Amino acid sequence: MALQFTTTASTSAKSEAERAAVLAAPGFGKHFTDHMAVIDWTVEDGWHDARIQPYGPFSVDPASAVLHYGQEIFEGLKAYRREDGSVWTFRPDQNAARMQRSAQRLALPQLPTEDFVESLRQLVGIDEAWVPTGGEDSLYLRPFMIANEVFLGVRAAQTVLYSVIASPAGPYFPAGVKPVSIWLSREYARAGKGGTGAAKCGGNYAASLLPTQEAFANGCAQVLFLDESGDANLEELGGMNVVLVKADGTLVTPKSESILDGITRNSLLEMARDLGHAVEHRTVTLAEWRDGVASGEIVEAFACGTAAVITPIGAIKAKDAADAFGDADAPAGPVTLALRAALTDLQYGRADDPHGWMTQLTEAR
Ligand code: PLP
Ligand code: COI
Repeated sequence: MALQFTTTASTSAKSEAERAAVLAAPGFGKHFTDHMAVIDWTVEDGWHDARIQPYGPFSVDPASAVLHYGQEIFEGLKAYRREDGSVWTFRPDQNAARMQRSAQRLALPQLPTEDFVESLRQLVGIDEAWVPTGGEDSLYLRPFMIANEVFLGVRAAQTVLYSVIASPAGPYFPAGVKPVSIWLSREYARAGKGGTGAAKCGGNYAASLLPTQEAFANGCAQVLFLDESGDANLEELGGMNVVLVKADGTLVTPKSESILDGITRNSLLEMARDLGHAVEHRTVTLAEWRDGVASGEIVEAFACGTAAVITPIGAIKAKDAADAFGDADAPAGPVTLALRAALTDLQYGRADDPHGWMTQLTEAR
């Protein structure tokens, strides 16, 4: 049976003026709305006590399992405001399903899709005024789950907390749609065979931070990971999937069991097929990319994900100069820009939705 949410409204909600100041320049991940959704889980009672409560710190016991063994997963999706004032989100069933797969891998309980979607609907319902209007701003929704059992034995926790917080968001990369440079990591892998690479768990991101520091120090926006096979197969960026565009319009994206099954990537590939592009989802080597750029066979590349939307990749930089290629100052390519426009038009309700991917969260104003 679906969970019923109770609501405790915040008594210290931000004023309209404070909220307007945040929405004028939200940045990414810096500001949070007045409420959050919370659901508890225990082995005995399953999922229970679904609630909307004022946004604020949790009380976490120092012996909580998540603080020691990293038993944590999360999701990321956005709420978009349409011109008529209504608020919609993109394929939340896919995020729910991926969170269930992540939960399975991290030995956490699976939250049913209807309760996941309802938690978003409840939170966006009460904090609707925080959904930005105009431009490409949105309300970023961050569902997450932590093992909060107070126990230091190494086993799956028997007490878990699921929560959703919401954060008004502008572009992830401050320069917007300008091509970014990417730092190639040969030294560090993000994931390995049989590991947690396909799960959206905090540990994968922790593993990406050191090479990401290196990327930032070298003027790059993200780090590119290869697989651990020694064949230099492309995996993904620290927080985005990668897609290459061939001169004949074919889209190529790496297939690997250790990368995140990106909902933006999957959707773009389907939209590209609808637009007549061929699509190849297969093993891709770094050499194929580098040689393809040199020969003119690969003409564009982009990063894609919920936070980044579609961001053109200009150049690959690396410790070894022989690994570097591309042009950091090249303009964004036409296929990248056309796909980006098609995706954002769909998300903001400016285009038809032939696949039924949009879910309405609030009524028109
Ligand atoms: N890969 C990683 C490591 C990510 O963090 C993300 C972002 O969520 C993606 C890929 C893209 O996934 P999605 O398009 O579902 O947001
Ligand atoms: C997302 O796109 O939702 C992510 O989780 C990636 C991160 C770079 C914010």
